[in-house]
Amino acid sequence: MTHTVLVFLDPAYPDGRVEDASKPTLYATDLGVTRGDGAFETLLVLDGHVRKLPAHLNRLNSSARMLGLEVPDHEAWERAIVTALAEYQRDIGVLDEVVVRLVVTRGIEGTHTPTCWVAAFPPAPTAKRQREHGVDVLLLDRGYDSTIAERAPWLLLGAKTLSYAVNMAALRYAHERGADDVIFTSSDGKVLEGPTSTVLVAHAETDDDGHLTLKRLVTPQLDSGILPGTSQGALFAAAKEAGWELGYGPLEPDDLFDADAVWLISSVRLLTPVNHIDGKSIGSDSTLRGRLTEELAALFDRIA
Ligand SMILES: Cc1ncc(COP(=O)(O)O)c(C=O)c1O
Repeated sequence: MTHTVLVFLDPAYPDGRVEDASKPTLYATDLGVTRGDGAFETLLVLDGHVRKLPAHLNRLNSSARMLGLEVPDHEAWERAIVTALAEYQRDIGVLDEVVVRLVVTRGIEGTHTPTCWVAAFPPAPTAKRQREHGVDVLLLDRGYDSTIAERAPWLLLGAKTLSYAVNMAALRYAHERGADDVIFTSSDGKVLEGPTSTVLVAHAETDDDGHLTLKRLVTPQLDSGILPGTSQGALFAAAKEAGWELGYGPLEPDDLFDADAVWLISSVRLLTPVNHIDGKSIGSDSTLRGRLTEELAALFDRIA
């Protein structure tokens, strides 16, 4: 079993209550377990530094608001994270690369008290491999149109809820067909997001000497029922400073096939190049694709 440190947020323990992850720690009547009713965040700690913590805590608050859940304040989460990382370092010795997950559920049925915890564990080896070698992706229909989020707020699109069974099923569907990942499309033909990542698309132009004269980075419209990515947000801020033109969709599958590069980006896997979509190769110029990936990866590394 992967080594996991668990720290529950508990008013009786200001720095969090440490629990043994190999022992039972949740009630079988917790609504997070029985209904997937809750929210979570997954963030990365690199060399002891917690990346983009304010953005993750803000998004946790916004997911909780959409769910009508009251969550502990930022300070309580921060103290529990500090405790979890100290425990992790004591057990493992280093904090070079650690995944930290924040979870809030609606709590044990009938109590109206959310259950909240922080888990710290090492990243899966696939994250690094995919970041370095890229991924093959299938386009899969999510079945909603791109305007549904506002019309049907009960679908909780744009919240990072615990109900990820559909996202995991889409990944299994892709794996069974030899692909690594998925890009969801809407029923009206717009590009949405990956099951655990944001889609980024680049177009570039070079002059006769090979200098980049135009760099344009586009992500799907944030109001199309997708989760606003903290990685995309951070990267866009850095790319703007570095002279990239930025855009927020709408994107259609042809925009992916015509792009110079497509990536999936998320907090743990980071910037991951997409090699093929539905079997078609992406980005006709592999040198240009490599240059763009290198530049954006360096920007993201600096800002996150
Ligand atoms: C559906 C979805 N979209 C996008 C992302 C990327 O978000 P972030 O960059 O904040 O990790 C995630 C992360 O897990 C996700 O689950």
